[in-house]
This record gives sequence, structure tokens and C-alpha cells, in this order.
Amino acid sequence: MLKTVVCVSGGGTNLQAILDGIAQGAIRNVQIVRVISNNRKAYALERAALARIDAVCVSPRDYEDRERFNEAFLQKVEEADPDLIVLAGFLVVIPPQLIRRYENRIINIHPSLIPSFCGKGYYGLKVHEAALARGVKVTGATVHFVDEGTDTGPILMQKAVAVMDGDTPQSLQRRVMEEAEWVILPRCLDLIATGRVTVTDGQAHIAE
Ligand code: GAR
Repeated sequence: MLKTVVCVSGGGTNLQAILDGIAQGAIRNVQIVRVISNNRKAYALERAALARIDAVCVSPRDYEDRERFNEAFLQKVEEADPDLIVLAGFLVVIPPQLIRRYENRIINIHPSLIPSFCGKGYYGLKVHEAALARGVKVTGATVHFVDEGTDTGPILMQKAVAVMDGDTPQSLQRRVMEEAEWVILPRCLDLIATGRVTVTDGQAHIAE
């Protein structure tokens, strides 16, 4: 079983897609050992509790400075001793020491087709606002491994989603979630947990 920690900040619909995928057998060989939120009010914490999964909150607000928060966050991860860490709508910068320690063992879901609309400042609805402002006709979602840059790690999977006339950031966000995020994130977890993903020279490969 691939012991997995899921990090969240908000509604947790991607966490739910993972929990449902495990329950339905679409994700094999994965055990969620802990959910970590930086936000005490995140509905994702409720979802974890309903699924009887250990859930903890580590908020930067509770620490004097970033260094102390990073240490506390690292400790919460290491206590769970994961094989894989999934950033499922986690809107906090990951401590560099964690990235080095878990090289090629952290994945993130981003709501655009990287390298469009990604990097610093592009998260949540802002990504969809930017896509609509640019007038793209296709957007989507990307699952990638996390390196020390922002959204720069090896791309594992992408799925395109059409932009419709009259879309609002909210309607586009919803379609990207339904058609792409909740599909590719569970799929990637299953692929990793069944040993079909390798990363070489900064590129991720899938052996189907
Ligand atoms: C998702 O759309 C995810 O792709 C995005 O935050 C949302 C979280 O929703 N992540 C980022 O923007 C990361 N840069 P959820 O809490 O319902 O899963």
C-alpha cells in the first residue's frame, strides 16, 4: 500500500475524488494516512473526518515566522511517514527541505494546461480569470511532480477542457474540475501506486 498524505486548503473536492476513487476501486494500492490543512475552516477537514481519516491543521498564523511553520509542517508530514504526498488544492508554499526530502514523491494538481496560467500568483479562481481575460478557447488541468520552482516540475498528465462563450471564472472552474481534475488526479494516483510511473531527466513517463 502506498501511504499517502493529502494536503488541502479549501473545499476538498479533489480530496473527495480521491476518497471516492479508493472506495470504488478505481485507485488501487493507496492508503490515505493523513490529511493536512493550513486552514482550520477548510471543508476538506470535514470530508476527512467523514471518511475517518486522521486530519490535522497547521496554520502559518500559529507560528512566529515561516521557518517555525515549515518545521511544524514537516513534522506533521514525517509523523505520517508517507510514500507519496498529494497537493490537492494546497495553497501554501511547500518548504524547500520537504521538496528535497521527497524528491519525485510529491504531486500537485493545477487548474490549467501548464505552462499557461501557472507560477506565482496563479491559484484557484485567479487561474480561470486569467484564462478568460486572455480569451483562450481551451484550458484544462495538469498533474505534475513538485520541484523547487512554482508549477515547474515534471508533468505527469494533462487534460484539455473547452472554454464556452459566456463562461464566468466560476463556471469554468467547475467544468475544469468535473472534466479534468477529478479525472486525472485519481488516475495518476492509481498509476503511481501500481508502479507505472518513472521520472528520468526531469520527465515523467507512464508505462500503461
Ligand atoms: C482546485 O481547482 C485545484 O486545482 C486548485 O485549487 C482548487 C482546490 O479545490 N489548485 C491550485 O490552484 C494550485 N495552484 P478543492 O479544494 O475543491 O480540491
